[in-house]
Amino acid sequence: MVRVGIVGSRFSAGLHAQAYQRTGKVELVAASAIDNLNEFCRKYRIADSCRDFREMLKRDDIELVSVCVPNFLHKEVVIAAAESGKHVICEKPLATRVEDAREMLRAARKNRVKLMYAEDWIFAPALRRAKSICDEGAIGQVLYLKAKETHPGSHSLYAQKIEYCGGGAMIHLAIHSIGFVRWFKGKEVVEVVGKVSGGARDNLKHHNFEGEDWGVGILTFEDKSQALVEGNYITCGGLDDVVEIYGSKGVIKIDLTQGSPLSVYSLDGYSYAIEKAEMTKGWTKPAVDEEASLGYIDEIAHFVDCVAEDKEPQPGMRGEDGLKALEVTMAIYKSAQEGRTIKIR
Ligand SMILES: NC(=O)c1ccc[n+]([C@@H]2O[C@H](COP(=O)([O-])OP(=O)(O)OC[C@H]3O[C@@H](n4cnc5c(N)ncnc54)[C@H](O)[C@@H]3O)[C@@H](O)[C@H]2O)c1
Repeated sequence: MVRVGIVGSRFSAGLHAQAYQRTGKVELVAASAIDNLNEFCRKYRIADSCRDFREMLKRDDIELVSVCVPNFLHKEVVIAAAESGKHVICEKPLATRVEDAREMLRAARKNRVKLMYAEDWIFAPALRRAKSICDEGAIGQVLYLKAKETHPGSHSLYAQKIEYCGGGAMIHLAIHSIGFVRWFKGKEVVEVVGKVSGGARDNLKHHNFEGEDWGVGILTFEDKSQALVEGNYITCGGLDDVVEIYGSKGVIKIDLTQGSPLSVYSLDGYSYAIEKAEMTKGWTKPAVDEEASLGYIDEIAHFVDCVAEDKEPQPGMRGEDGLKALEVTMAIYKSAQEGRTIKIR
């Protein structure tokens, strides 16, 4: 059994806890958070809890720590975990600043622990199937990818503040698309063009959000192929993750969130259909196993195996990949701000 401690107690902490339990290979020994701790520990049968994550990190028996706290805290928690000799899974984005992400990687290297980057899309079964079909040569050479994550607005107040989030919908949502297209292509992004809404009163819809509520980036890879990545908070109807892959001999289209095999018509509504859906009345398409279809279950299982078998995480899931995704994100912001193409490297 791999012994795990979780920092955080709400949305993503719950996703990690469920996924750990589904591996059957993990003992959840402790959790740390500043709220919701008792409820969280009761739900996931975690015996030890403390408000201060540094207290939790003193336990010698913890091998792996999940970092499920607001973005601006990733650096502090990851570095403290690395310095206490624990392997770390860090939620996206790796950090709110590129320099912080580099410091986190240095801390992991210095302390000889694994820093793993939780990009769940790379383990979404539909996206992995698309990749294997593509690798067979079914659509020829990949020329252009489109990938977006959109929804009506974040559930967390911290996500509305630039200081805590690092930006708006681009860093918080589209970073999934960026991590995904980079892994799918297996190539580096060398150039970006970005456009984002201006934040606050210059947003399209959410004038109370400091960061942008809409953003796109056009990425050029080293082989001259292109990708369009998008994140926005102006999409009604719940989480909408869509990927399209255009090859020289074919096309693949993936609807990760809205394309359930279930259709439900309800006059009164019911408790839950899909993440961030505003309502469940009328016709809806509820997710069947959202944690699995979005990749969380297989992602965590992969990380647990990396620790248990002392393996490196697969491409796309290493701390270095989190850094690259953040560099591309920041180049998109720079491009939007300066109105020009930004070269990377
Ligand atoms: N991979 C995904 O699809 C996905 C989905 C949601 C969130 N996330 C990421 O997970 C992270 C957390 O987001 P969330 O939606 O779970 O946020 P949340 O608001 O639901 O929960 C934040 C948690 O952080 C804890 N916390 C805050 N300050 C703390 C501190 N000083 N010490 C210990 N705990 C502290 C809070 O108690 C709370 O449990 C973010 O980085 C977010 O980007 C990833």
